[in-house]
Amino acid sequence: MSEITIAIDGPAASGKSTTALGVALALGYRHLNSGLVYRAIAWAASEESWPSDDAGFDERLAELEVELEKVGSGFRVLVHGVDPGSSLVSPGTLSRVSQVSARPAVRERVLGLLRAKGGRGGVVCDGRDIGTVVFPEAELKVFLVASAEERGRRRLLDQGLEPTEEAVREEAARLSARDELDSSRAVAPLRRAADAIELDTTKMNSTEVLGRIVSLARARESLFG
Ligand code: CDP
Repeated sequence: MSEITIAIDGPAASGKSTTALGVALALGYRHLNSGLVYRAIAWAASEESWPSDDAGFDERLAELEVELEKVGSGFRVLVHGVDPGSSLVSPGTLSRVSQVSARPAVRERVLGLLRAKGGRGGVVCDGRDIGTVVFPEAELKVFLVASAEERGRRRLLDQGLEPTEEAVREEAARLSARDELDSSRAVAPLRRAADAIELDTTKMNSTEVLGRIVSLARARESLFG
């Protein structure tokens, strides 16, 4: 049976990356986390104080060495040969990433990297435009959604923070603001592909979500493999 391509898209903190990694492990596939590459470019632009005008920004982008290196069941991102580590999940990087990921030159660059690593199947790729732009031929497309409050609560718990009512409200507002930027950009906006299966995980735990997608994937493998 041959390996298929699985695209998992959805808004911020909808559980895409954790789910994609779990699905990849269950099927013996590789996990390709596209958000990591956008975060790495946003981090480099801030760290190196790139100019914000298009010509200046794009010139620095052209000089940037960014690559995906296989590790275990996934990939890590290297910037000038170095893994930026926890800087990729810092609030500073996250607050800038949507402005950076909306730039056409950035999208073009990341598209090339993702297709080079995932173009031959056996991959679970997660992001915003995987089913619509990066791998439109993917045999299985899933669009994960959950209420902003639930996503805010999960993100706080992931960070080891107390999900008080106020903290959840603030986090939900931050996530919604990023979703708005990601959905309203001109190039490759956050959007459900017409042939994607939408899964509302607000009331599901991660084991249920994983089980559901793995069984969908096995059914597609026997159909297409
Ligand atoms: O999981 P979370 O939403 O916090 O982050 P992520 O999936 O790592 O994505 C971070 C940011 O990268 C998003 O807010 C988007 O601006 C951008 N992104 C994108 O534009 N296209 C993708 N395929 C993946 C991420």
